[in-house]
Amino acid sequence: MAKSTKENFMDKKLSRRKMLKMTGASAAGVAIGASGLGGVLKAFGVPQWLDDDTSVENKVNFYGKHQSGIATEVQSHVYFASLSVLVKSKAELQELFKMWTPLAVSLMNGQQIGETTNGHIPPIDTGEAVGVDAKNLSITFGVGPSLFSNKDLGLSQLKPTELNDLPHFPKDQLEEAYTGGDMCIQACADDPQVAFHAVRNLVRAASGKVSVNWTQAGYNSIPVNKEGKRETPRNLFAFKDGTENPRSDKAMNDVVWIQNGESKPWMTNGSYLIVRRIQMHLETWDRTSLKAQEETFGRYRHNGAPFGKQHEFDAVDEQRKDDAGNYVVPETSHVFLARQVKARIMRRAFSYASGVMDHTGAYDAGLLFISFQKDPQQFTDIQNALGRLDKMNEYITHRGSGVFACFPGIKKGSYIGEALFNA
Ligand code: HEM
Repeated sequence: MAKSTKENFMDKKLSRRKMLKMTGASAAGVAIGASGLGGVLKAFGVPQWLDDDTSVENKVNFYGKHQSGIATEVQSHVYFASLSVLVKSKAELQELFKMWTPLAVSLMNGQQIGETTNGHIPPIDTGEAVGVDAKNLSITFGVGPSLFSNKDLGLSQLKPTELNDLPHFPKDQLEEAYTGGDMCIQACADDPQVAFHAVRNLVRAASGKVSVNWTQAGYNSIPVNKEGKRETPRNLFAFKDGTENPRSDKAMNDVVWIQNGESKPWMTNGSYLIVRRIQMHLETWDRTSLKAQEETFGRYRHNGAPFGKQHEFDAVDEQRKDDAGNYVVPETSHVFLARQVKARIMRRAFSYASGVMDHTGAYDAGLLFISFQKDPQQFTDIQNALGRLDKMNEYITHRGSGVFACFPGIKKGSYIGEALFNA
């Protein structure tokens, strides 16, 4: 029989207690208020909170060679936050990441970040994720170029040369409200509230140390086939999005994971996250014939197969010409152009729909494009290849942008970003 919400809650409380006991923090835990949380964790150093509790369902591990949320199979929701730092020294910044580490472990374990026994103070955890399992929550932390130019922090020597704001691309209409950031938190989960809860509680625990710069929620409808395997989700143009992506370990090492010597040593096993908030002009798209829609990508809408092929994962042959000498995959299609450069990236995008645009009444909807690569130049090369030619330009406008250096994975006993602080 399925457990009641209350029983599940009690289970969580129990394993939470177990965990506090293991870290030796139980006595102090009773008295922690949201504002005092950092202090208590500081007093105990960085506890080695465990993430291998096999009783937790639908859980992504926190510790590992790489951060979660990059190679992790894409979840159905994202809550992405760009943050500004308010701390005034490198030591305070380091404390912030130390404080966040056990909280991120708890959140990814499907647990609350703290237990509240004193009814006269605000609850430590905001509570809206109680009663559900871990929902495959992944949390990815990154730092932006502006963090390294912040004089108070004294990190300028550690800035990787490749970490810069992206250049201006033709047709960009970036809005400050969705651009930049000293840091980012990408929380992905198979539940929108779990993803939001993670960011909300991390930001709340860091009150006075960070402020939220901009955020965007996004989603994917992930079809599951008869064998129970997740299939490629469709974007709001109804095309399968994410088909051509690096998947093997070799491809991930070639495209995504920074190898020793390829960047600043502290970025080894890390990656760069690029986020673009791209409005999709659904009204125009919806007036476009199916044939023209398919020519926009060079793939068929119904099954995602490339032009001239049968199945979604059949290799794209962009060199192939028909009897009349025309390219089978149209020369102005998104896929043809994206393949004109050697650079590859790993895309992990989500759709968004956030009301209507001011004045026009058009949907403010589109793609929260997120890609990972070992050098932001890989993205820039592809975006330049798409340039002004991409047939998809008629239907999209880039409105937001960010680039973040995502730390390597976290070893047990260590903390988020340790490689940077120990560099
Ligand atoms: C709203 C914006 C976008 C939409 C709707 C979109 C949609 C698509 C679709 C449907 C495909 C074909 C299926 C697949 O392989 O996933 C595709 C492929 C691809 N897209 Fe996009 N895309 C967008 C923006 C971008 C941007 C900004 C970039 C990078 C600068 C990009 C890079 C790529 C690449 C590299 C491929 C794979 C091409 C290949 O090797 O076959 N896309 N995109």
